[in-house]
Amino acid sequence: MIEFSGVVKRFGDLTAVHRLDLKVEKGEIFGFLGPNGAGKTTTVKLLTGLLRPTEGTVKLAGLDVVRDTTAAKKKMGLVPDEPFVYPKLTGVEFLRFVGDLYEVPLEAQKKRIPELLEMFELRPWGGELAETYSHGMRQKLVLAANLLHEPEVLVLDEPLVGLDPKSARLVKEIFQTLSTRGCTLFMCTHVLEIAERLCSRVGIMISGKLTALGTVSELKGGKDASRLEDVFLELTGGSEYAALLKHL
Ligand SMILES: Nc1ncnc2c1ncn2[C@@H]1O[C@H](COP(=O)(O)OP(=O)(O)OP(=O)(O)O)[C@@H](O)[C@H]1O
Ligand SMILES: [Mg+2]
Repeated sequence: MIEFSGVVKRFGDLTAVHRLDLKVEKGEIFGFLGPNGAGKTTTVKLLTGLLRPTEGTVKLAGLDVVRDTTAAKKKMGLVPDEPFVYPKLTGVEFLRFVGDLYEVPLEAQKKRIPELLEMFELRPWGGELAETYSHGMRQKLVLAANLLHEPEVLVLDEPLVGLDPKSARLVKEIFQTLSTRGCTLFMCTHVLEIAERLCSRVGIMISGKLTALGTVSELKGGKDASRLEDVFLELTGGSEYAALLKHL
């Protein structure tokens, strides 16, 4: 469903993504981890056609996202790291607008929009302008908008940031249900518990290089006792706190 082949992305002298080769199968929940500035969001932008690779190809559902951008975009949903909504549209108007962009038939929109608002507990605010929404409410509105057209691939950049515990739980359940229905999820996250609980496989990117790839238990090297956090910190050198704390 997702295929990066020899993908390089340079910004001037900086190589944000080094020769990425990665395949994600239908129905997987793929967790993409890595320290700040590792190149995760850049990879998400390459996958969703928002950036063009300097070298290599990116395919989504068999479509080249550079050559067949529009066809590929019809098959995907994107929840970016900052929830973008139009401030002067109400929640319902925003969902209608996104539904029209994805050519969801009006009858289907009329049925789906109230259901999605209900599911995300946004129904009482459906008629309010999005500019009055809290961060978490915007995040949920963007998630709802991405479920309208039933995408084959859902790309999520830190989807749980700012969600309260109940909403976060709901969203995790939604991800699992989507995956069992055959939707493929590609998710950047710093929340290692999500990677451990939800993801079929995990990739760890460090300074633009995919440094580790496998199931969580493969990354742990069969040591049940060790946590993914320990593996992550070992790979990223994040356990050298003493040296950092001396600046406090
Ligand atoms: N448009 C751009 N122009 C120049 N450099 C960029 C651009 N976008 C990203 N970068 C650089 O590419 C590198 C990777 O950034 P990216 O946003 O992909 O990191 P990330 O892994 O998503 O980090 P975080 O965990 O903080 O979200 C960083 O060094 C960043 O400064
Ligand atoms: Mg990022």
